[in-house]
Amino acid sequence: MCGIFGGVLKTGEISPLIYDGLKRLEYRGYDSVGFATIQDGALQVKKDAGRIDDVVQRLKMDSMPGSMGIGHTRWATHGAPEMVNAHPHTDCDGNLAVIHNGVIENFMELKEELLNKGHNFKSRTDTEIIAHLIEEELKGDIALDEAVLKSLRRLEGSYAIAVVSNSDPGKILCARNESPLVIGVSEKGTYCASDVPAMLPYTNKVVYLRNGEFATLDQDGYEIKLVSDGTVVERGLEEVTWSLEMAEKQGYPHFMLKEINEQPTSLRGSLRLQPQYLDLLTTLLDRGRDIFLIAAGTSYHACIAASYMFSRLARITAFPAISSEFIEQYGSSVGVDSVILCVSQSGETYDTLKAIDHARMRAGTVLGVTNSVGSTLTRVARAYIIQQSGPEIGVAATKTFTSQLMVLAQLALRLARMRGKVSQDEGDDFREKLLQVPDVVEETLSRHRDYVKSLVEKYSGERLFVFLGRGISSSTALEARLKLLELSYVPSLAYPAGESKHGPISIIEEGVPVIFVCPRGETRKDIVGSIMEMKARGAVIISVCEEGDREIIGLSDDVIEMPKGIHEILSPIPYVVPLQLFSYYLAVRKGLDPDKPRNLAKSVTVP
Ligand code: M6R
Repeated sequence: MCGIFGGVLKTGEISPLIYDGLKRLEYRGYDSVGFATIQDGALQVKKDAGRIDDVVQRLKMDSMPGSMGIGHTRWATHGAPEMVNAHPHTDCDGNLAVIHNGVIENFMELKEELLNKGHNFKSRTDTEIIAHLIEEELKGDIALDEAVLKSLRRLEGSYAIAVVSNSDPGKILCARNESPLVIGVSEKGTYCASDVPAMLPYTNKVVYLRNGEFATLDQDGYEIKLVSDGTVVERGLEEVTWSLEMAEKQGYPHFMLKEINEQPTSLRGSLRLQPQYLDLLTTLLDRGRDIFLIAAGTSYHACIAASYMFSRLARITAFPAISSEFIEQYGSSVGVDSVILCVSQSGETYDTLKAIDHARMRAGTVLGVTNSVGSTLTRVARAYIIQQSGPEIGVAATKTFTSQLMVLAQLALRLARMRGKVSQDEGDDFREKLLQVPDVVEETLSRHRDYVKSLVEKYSGERLFVFLGRGISSSTALEARLKLLELSYVPSLAYPAGESKHGPISIIEEGVPVIFVCPRGETRKDIVGSIMEMKARGAVIISVCEEGDREIIGLSDDVIEMPKGIHEILSPIPYVVPLQLFSYYLAVRKGLDPDKPRNLAKSVTVP
């Protein structure tokens, strides 16, 4: 996720506005920054890796000349956070500059084609191919907007882009496909940005570009066309009534709620991983004699789920381990045949990095799944995957958890195929279900938002909660309980349901709420017995189950019904969502700040 801001002014310099706009988008990305402005037909580009304030001041970017230009704050997805990879990217001759937010999936093949035509690439980004594609199209002696449209038609993946060129110096050309882009108009000029807050000091009159749309901006306004065939789209401006603070969170009161609601988008991002990295990790995992899945907190819960995925799909035993325990628990058995897959949103968690040091010292193969390009994990792992969730600001992990599960499920499927453990049809069917998950999450969010709020009202006075699930759903229960604990500070327990009768059941008395996670699947029939055990001791049963599951519904006091047809192995992704909402609304109901729970840091970099 990156931040884009651009503008064409009637008079005055654009660069201070770009600086200000990007500062307001810093939450979207912060590892590099760059501006391109045009004055008197000359394109000027300045960029570097680093925080916005540092880079802008060092390179004096806020005094770059020109009344029109674009700027970008980067959150790396392809290529490390270095100067060459910072946006804008230019064509071979430096006549045009492009900024981009998103992931171009077919960039490798396009790059090869352009290299064969003699184009000279400077970066390792997917974005740079867009500049060269446009340059190539311009050789056909067509107008800039036509060249941009033709280039866009060749792109697969997600993008919000803005292009400026000295061949048409009064215009910004922009487009959107699955990455946000908004246009704003004031008496002083026209603007584009990834998000409304960037332009709110200048205008509250905006138009949101939709997927597959292209827009030309000049100092007097904008024109929108369809990328597919160039048809002009008539769409008027709307007025934004948000305050600046509200706009930063896209109208949500907290980043956590924004991030919970972003999950359909972040999950779609996690389905667009580069296949060659997935293949590399799969091959290395396949070679391991012992596989360990190492992580802390929420990421550890993703590892527990992954151990079920690897076993059920690929028939592989993978040991989940809490990173702070790994050295004691398994350290002595790690050797050259061990593969250690480390899962860490930040890629900087101290305990996980210590476990990695140990594994590397003993010649184990360290692999990573992380959300942070350039993090320590990406530097020390033999191979890694960036999970593409976009930055997460709330301290509680939400969208990064579901994306981790999405990545791990894809690895499990590839391993299963590689080892011949699923038939072609079974594999295709699972893949189909995987692709449906973002839509299922979208439906869950819209269906349950208000209902979960009403449950919070009903249960807000409770002093203890218990979460139970069987099989892979025990990881959902553990994660739901962690969210409740860390945000609302309500004592709670989570166990695999079958284990509860070996001790935890003694805490159950009349009225204790027990939340059961019970999707359809192999564990479904066993959970009924666990519900009966709890009911017999007076527990109040709240179930998250498949819609129309009459037996579970009949046994429950309250039910969150989930869409039908979700594969059990994938169920933790949608099933955790209403429980994230429950923790969020409970924290708010108690007057707590869910974005900043007490005693916690987003990234725990200390022993
Ligand atoms: O960055 P990491 O994924 O390595 O972080 C691990 C934990 O610190 C993190 O998941 C923590 O448990 C969150 N507060 C959970 O919401």
